[in-house]
Amino acid sequence: MKILVIHGPNLNLLGKREPEVYGSETLDEINHRIRNYAMGKEVSLEFFQSNHEGEIIDRIQQAAEGPEKCDALVINPGAYTHYSIAIRDAISGAGLPTIEVHLSNIYAREPIRHKSVIAPVCLGQISGLGPDGYMLAIEALLAKEKGMRDSP
Ligand code: DQA
Repeated sequence: MKILVIHGPNLNLLGKREPEVYGSETLDEINHRIRNYAMGKEVSLEFFQSNHEGEIIDRIQQAAEGPEKCDALVINPGAYTHYSIAIRDAISGAGLPTIEVHLSNIYAREPIRHKSVIAPVCLGQISGLGPDGYMLAIEALLAKEKGMRDSP
């Protein structure tokens, strides 16, 4: 199973950016941890970070078909979570099982963060568990795929 992990805007600054909210690990360290976690599992990973909505949409479209095709998505859309109908449409258009991840618990923060326009087109959402959320998302996608393989 090939999974594309997408990190949205400002997540390139992890480690420096509001560490009291997002923790002290850098994005490279988190990606490294995800890669280690996936080792020995039936999964190959790709990582993509962008601060630009259109680039994220292009990458989701490429994941749906062509040489960059993937089987599933894990996405932390950053602030786009709360208003990007374009990213939501790209995810629903791709038709790939997708899990939305947030490092912080968006429901325990300011009201503007309580709504995700992305979550309704995802298999599920993990919010508030820090970088472990990415590992749990991969586990959930693997379990889902296994469930589909095992069911007659
Ligand atoms: C975030 C939560 C968003 O509200 C915020 O804009 C981010 C990070 C998180 O991982 O907790 O950039 O997606």
